[in-house]
Amino acid sequence: MQFYIETLGCQMNVLDSELAASALIGSGLTPASDKFDADVILFNTCSIRRHAEDKVFSALGRLKTWKDKKPYSVLGVIGCMAQKEQKNIFQRVPFVDLVLGPGSLDTLAAAVHQLLDEKVSGSRQAKKIAVSLDRKVNRHNDLIESYRLFNPERTVKETGTIKDIKAPKHASLVRIMFGCNQFCSYCIVPYVRGPEQSRPPGEIIAEVQSLVRQGVSKITFIGQTVNSYIYQDGGKTAKLADLLYEASNIAGLEQLDFVTGYPKGVDDALLQAVRDLPAVLKHFHIPAQSGSDSVLRRMNRHYTAAEYRELTDRIYSAIPGSSLTSDFIVGFCGETDAEFEATVDLVKYCRFRNSFVFKYSVREGTKSAELYADDVPETVKKYRNNWLLEVQKTAGTDDGACQSCRNRYN
Ligand code: 5AD
Ligand code: SF4
Repeated sequence: MQFYIETLGCQMNVLDSELAASALIGSGLTPASDKFDADVILFNTCSIRRHAEDKVFSALGRLKTWKDKKPYSVLGVIGCMAQKEQKNIFQRVPFVDLVLGPGSLDTLAAAVHQLLDEKVSGSRQAKKIAVSLDRKVNRHNDLIESYRLFNPERTVKETGTIKDIKAPKHASLVRIMFGCNQFCSYCIVPYVRGPEQSRPPGEIIAEVQSLVRQGVSKITFIGQTVNSYIYQDGGKTAKLADLLYEASNIAGLEQLDFVTGYPKGVDDALLQAVRDLPAVLKHFHIPAQSGSDSVLRRMNRHYTAAEYRELTDRIYSAIPGSSLTSDFIVGFCGETDAEFEATVDLVKYCRFRNSFVFKYSVREGTKSAELYADDVPETVKKYRNNWLLEVQKTAGTDDGACQSCRNRYN
């Protein structure tokens, strides 16, 4: 039996697809080189903006013929949309068999095999759904139990390049933390990826060692807010800087970087580690989102534009030759021309190597959807988006060298 995984969204999903593929290969399935040859097609989905969800629903719709030709097949939706939409997915696309959230990936292989077996034996009764608890109504400990971390051995590296999985042999993503506790008012992530959980440092370092043994020389540590990584064990506390020092000692590891940063809690120890460790890229991706204090307040970001500027000053002066990239949301609820101008000023000031600009998209279940009207017209959002990209081009320092910047979002 062959499987194919279509990956949308950020690097979290790119990594989840690699891990899911490793688990499926371990369970006896083989990767298909063509999507339509597959017996199992999984969409690893993103729900950060509405556009990402619309894309999935239309792509699923286009699989009707494939499904009709292979009635025993399994069509699954995994990732953030699975957690957010849950049973709605079955209602909108009745021939989907499996909905499985990011906190339930450990059950993916078993669920897929059960569905395949049931269909072959003619006993497939129902669709399968595996999602985590609702963050709005459940207690912390119960939530943590329902968002299980999933870190199987990466067999994809040994299998070689799989067409649908972005897992080059020499570079790897390694998750250092899962979930998010920031609750930016516009963002669905804390509700679909659950509470922040930092992985034990020993486990992370062992994973890096294992990858380096498999021929990997470049590692990117990933997490929703990597600079809030913290792991306490007995009297010892490990932070991101400690991970960088430890990983840097691994012979054969040539390059190390980390995404995504949060503008608060960038401590001097981290700056020193980035400055002093030759393998660590002198680069930070720290989304500012806006340059207007009033917008930042409505976004629940807990810092001012002046504090963000100070952070960039601090990084540039502590680490010679360092570079920064950022994300911005334009057309956030109530954003006035003056508020947008403040963002333009910030981009001019910060000399980002690159900025990723997004038009605000209402996400049901978030605070901003509840509290504010999505009142900036689409044409204005588009105009501001293009304008900010132009400002970035003129004021920015992109030399075209950074592939990871280009690949960050798709
Ligand atoms: N609308 C538009 N952009 C969003 N982002 C997060 N949520 C939304 C939303 N509701 C952007 C932020 C974040 C990036 C990954 O996506 O800029 O940093
Ligand atoms: Fe979303 Fe904010 Fe968490 Fe980033 S820090 S994932 S924008 S809630």
